[in-house]
Amino acid sequence: MTIAPPGARQEEQTRYLDIRGLGVRYGGKHGTEALRGLDLQVPEGSFHAVLGPSGCGKSTLLKALVGLLDMQVGAIEPQPRLPAYVPQGDSCFPWLTAAENVAFGLEARGVGKRERLQRARSLLADLDLGDFADRYPHELSEGMRQRVAIARAFAIDADLLLMDEPLSALDFQTKMRVQSELLGLWERQRSTVIYVTHDIDEALTLADHVTVLSTRPALARETIEVPFSRPRSYRDVRRAPGYGDLFARIDALLEA
Ligand SMILES: Nc1ncnc2c1ncn2[C@@H]1O[C@H](COP(=O)(O)OP(=O)(O)OP(=O)(O)O)[C@@H](O)[C@H]1O
Ligand SMILES: [Mg+2]
Repeated sequence: MTIAPPGARQEEQTRYLDIRGLGVRYGGKHGTEALRGLDLQVPEGSFHAVLGPSGCGKSTLLKALVGLLDMQVGAIEPQPRLPAYVPQGDSCFPWLTAAENVAFGLEARGVGKRERLQRARSLLADLDLGDFADRYPHELSEGMRQRVAIARAFAIDADLLLMDEPLSALDFQTKMRVQSELLGLWERQRSTVIYVTHDIDEALTLADHVTVLSTRPALARETIEVPFSRPRSYRDVRRAPGYGDLFARIDALLEA
C-alpha cells in the first residue's frame, strides 16, 4: 500500500505494511480471542516496536505475520513473503553449530556452503560471537543463543524482520551492547522491523515508532513517534530532552 502524506510529491510517497482489522481466535476447549480488530501501519524500512501487557497477543501478531496461523481474519498488505523471524524463547537448532544455525536459512535460498558459512561467521563476529561460531547451542549461554537467533534473522536479508523479545535474556550491560550491534546491522540492511519488547527504554532506543497494545484481545491503543535522532544509543536517549515525558506517556498507556 502507498500513502502520500499531505503535500508530498510523487517520489516522496511512503510505502507501508498495512494491517487492517486483524483478529485471531485460538480454538480448543478454552478458545481464546488473542487479537480483535487490530490496525497497524508500518512504514517500509522503519523500525517499529510493539509493547503490551503480558499475554495480550504480541507473539500472536508476529505469528500471524509469519503465516503460522490459519484462524485469522483481517487483511495484511502486502502479504509478507518469507519474513525473517526470531521467535520468543530459545529457537536454535541443537544439532547445528552456531555458524550452521545462522547459515540455515541461506541454504534454502540457494547460497553455496562456503559463502553461507562465511556470511554466518561475519554476522556472529558483528554480534561479538566470533569465537563461538563452532560451538553447539548447549555450549552457549541463553543470551548467546539469543544473539545467534538474531544473526540468523539478519543472515537472509529479508524485507521484513519480526523479532519477539530477542534480548530478554541479556543482562543490562550486554543488552546495551547488543542493542547497538543490532542497530548497526539494521542501518546496513534497512529492512522493515517489527520488534516486540517489554522494555520501554529498549523501544525508545531502537525504534522509529512504538505501538502500545491493549489487554487481550489486543488492538493497537496508540502509536507514538520516537523523535530522537540517529545514530543513537541507550545513553543518548536517556539524556535527550523529552525522554522522561515519552517514557511516562508509554508507561501510562501500558498501565491503563
Ligand atoms: N497455541 C495457542 N492455543 C491457544 N491459546 C493460545 C495459543 N497461543 C497463545 N494463546 C493465548 O493467546 C493469548 C495471547 O498469547 P501471546 O503469546 O500472543 O501473548 P504475548 O502478548 O506474546 O504474551 P507474553 O508477553 O507473555 O509473551 C494468551 O491468552 C495465550 O494463552
Ligand atoms: Mg509473547
